[in-house]
Amino acid sequence: MKIAVLVSGGGTNLQAIIDKIADGTITNTEIALVIANNQGAFALERAAKAGIPAECISPKNFASRDEFNVALTNRLVESGVDLIVLAGFLVNIPPMMVEKFPNKIINIHPSLIPSFCGKGFYGLHVHEGVLARGVKVTGATVHFVDDGTDTGPIILQKAVNVEQGDDPKTLQLRVMEQAEWNILPQAIDMIANGKVSVVDGHVIIE
Ligand code: GAR
Repeated sequence: MKIAVLVSGGGTNLQAIIDKIADGTITNTEIALVIANNQGAFALERAAKAGIPAECISPKNFASRDEFNVALTNRLVESGVDLIVLAGFLVNIPPMMVEKFPNKIINIHPSLIPSFCGKGFYGLHVHEGVLARGVKVTGATVHFVDDGTDTGPIILQKAVNVEQGDDPKTLQLRVMEQAEWNILPQAIDMIANGKVSVVDGHVIIE
């Protein structure tokens, strides 16, 4: 299976995928392409270091959002990838792209959906919301992308404890280490090996 990984920032989830392909935890999978929406994304350096083709497609280089959406979608179609992995890609996915890749786009979200998700909940804001509410358990979710924000069929979830004295950054790191860096690679491996299907809007795992 050929995958594209879309990134915006540090790229630790991309790194987890690279490492787990290298050590054989993820099988039948090749990262064909990494796309960032900003040139400064450290994830681009991680891709280059691993010898993976990487490029930036930024909304700033297009006259309108529509033109950006078309360029991004066309690039992914022409790349011939079987799966698109959003690994900290902080861009709204246009309906046009979802239509071209039905149940072929997955996203990692740093909470237990449906808590702390949707508009405004991304990156550190998710963990700020968790701490503000005082919940004792949070986690991460891998889901297919549909037309909504964080509303698609859920593939895997992993719970992580909130500890006394956490700040958004310590909590973010624990959620990454204990959940994200494991369940995103695991979901990719399961999809690459034909174990995941969507029936009536719900994920069935063989
Ligand atoms: C990750 O925590 C990811 O779950 C989150 O952004 C971070 C990216 O880190 N994604 C979202 O909030 C999507 N709504 P990374 O660039 O180090 O992988």
